[in-house]
Formats: sequence, C-alpha cells, structure tokens
Amino acid sequence: MKKVVLLGPPGAGKGTQAARLAGILGVPHISTGDIFRENIAAGTELGRIAKEYVEKGELVPDEVVVGMVRERLSRADAAGGYILDGFPRTLAQAEALEVAGELAPEVAVLLELPEEEVVARLSGRWTCPRCQRVYHERNNPPRNPGICDDDGEALIQREDDRPETIRRRLAVYREQTEPLLEYYRARGRLRVVDGGGPIEEVTCRISEATGGSS
Ligand code: AP5
Repeated sequence: MKKVVLLGPPGAGKGTQAARLAGILGVPHISTGDIFRENIAAGTELGRIAKEYVEKGELVPDEVVVGMVRERLSRADAAGGYILDGFPRTLAQAEALEVAGELAPEVAVLLELPEEEVVARLSGRWTCPRCQRVYHERNNPPRNPGICDDDGEALIQREDDRPETIRRRLAVYREQTEPLLEYYRARGRLRVVDGGGPIEEVTCRISEATGGSS
C-alpha cells in the first residue's frame, strides 16, 4: 500500500519512520510539522499564523492545515501515493482526507510507545533546521556530534521539546487525535505497530503491516 497515514503520540518515531518508508516506497514524505517549522523559519504568512500554536503545543486550526495539505497532495509527486506524518490529527482533518477521492488513505498505522519512552526520545532529539533530518543524542546520533550527516548544518533542539510543552502535546494527542484510532478501526484500515526497539526493526514491522517490503 502506498497511501499511508502514520499516527502516534509525539516522539513515537513518525518522522523517523516516514522518511525511511518514503525512500522504500518511492513516494513523498509529507510532514505537516516540518512544513510549519519551515514556514516559521522563513517568516511567511503561514508561519506567522502557525507559530503561536506550534510553540505552545496546541493544534493549528483545521482550516489552515486542511488547505495546506490539499495543496501539497495536489502536486504531481503525490499522485502515486504518500506517507502522511502528523496529518490527520482531528476528526475534521480525517474527514477532509476521506473526501479527497483517489487520495484517501489505504491504511493508518499507529506507532505505539509508552509515555516514559516518548519523553526520553523527545528530550534527546536534535533536528537539522535545513533538511529536517532527525537524530537522537544516544539512539540515533550523527557521525559528528551536533552536525547533520547530510548537509553539514548545525543541529538544533525544537522549541516545543521543553518539558511543559511536551506534556501539553501529549494531552492534546489524547484529547484530539486518539479518537482517530476508532475512526480508522471502524473502517478496517487501522494497523497497530509496536514503536519500541531499533529503528530498522520498527521499519520492518510497518512494512509488514502495510503489505510492503523493506
Ligand atoms: P509534529 O512535528 O508532527 O510533532 P509530533 O506529532 O509531536 O511528533 P514529533 O515530530 O515530535 O515526533 P515523531 O513521532 O515524528 O518522532 P521522531 O521521529 O522525531 O507537529 C508539531 C506541531 O505542529 C504540533 O504540536 C502542532 O502545533 C502542529 N501541527 C502539525 N501537524 C498538525 C495538524 N495536522 N493539525 C494541527 N496542528 C498540527 O522521533 C523522536 C526521537 O526519537 C528522535 O530523536 C529520534 O531520533 C528518536 N527515535 C525514533 N525512533 C526511535 C527508535 N526506534 N529507537 C530509539 N529512538 C528513536
């Protein structure tokens, strides 16, 4: 299957796995969080709107996100499929994707991870501000400390990875995004995958769950 939605709490590994699966399947990795961070860094109008929500760990309003994803999915590279990372996050967003005709998702994969592991992963995360590649200081370090393997940029820690914002993001996930599990389960499209263990093993589990190969 090539139209895949990745679900899971903050820090479950959606971005890490989406990048790997996109390479395997030859489809684009579309991360709404990355699009917001790029726009915030570039100071665009979209970035100005998103900044206050992202930095507090709140969701950006549905109408802003849905319009942005619709535009992204209409581009030629998404015609053969996609890995959606961080979208949908509300029932309204899931409905908007459902009515996108041929672009509706074939499968939604939940990456499960206990909360204490989520917090450990987020507090050790470093990100490349240029290419958005994600590292972890212990589990997934760059070859040279503090430097992106791909483009040599200095790595940064995300604004929303402060402990109080992590707590808010987890609460928002439970309140607004967890109902999507039932939404996709009721449609026979939910696959639940253990997000723990080495990155390569998680990729294999997702590939099996989505009928692909890794
Ligand atoms: P977004 O960027 O989507 O953040 P998130 O969902 O909170 O997820 P994260 O990016 O924090 O974690 P992840 O699951 O991708 O984990 P990662 O692979 O990095 O959204 C940010 C904000 O944007 C939201 O709060 C909201 O404001 C806004 N937004 C975005 N989409 C929206 C939407 N649809 N509607 C409204 N608002 C929206 O991994 C985490 C760490 O663990 C890394 O350091 C990684 O190296 C490490 N790691 C990964 N896998 C493993 C492993 N198997 N073992 C050990 N370490 C691992």
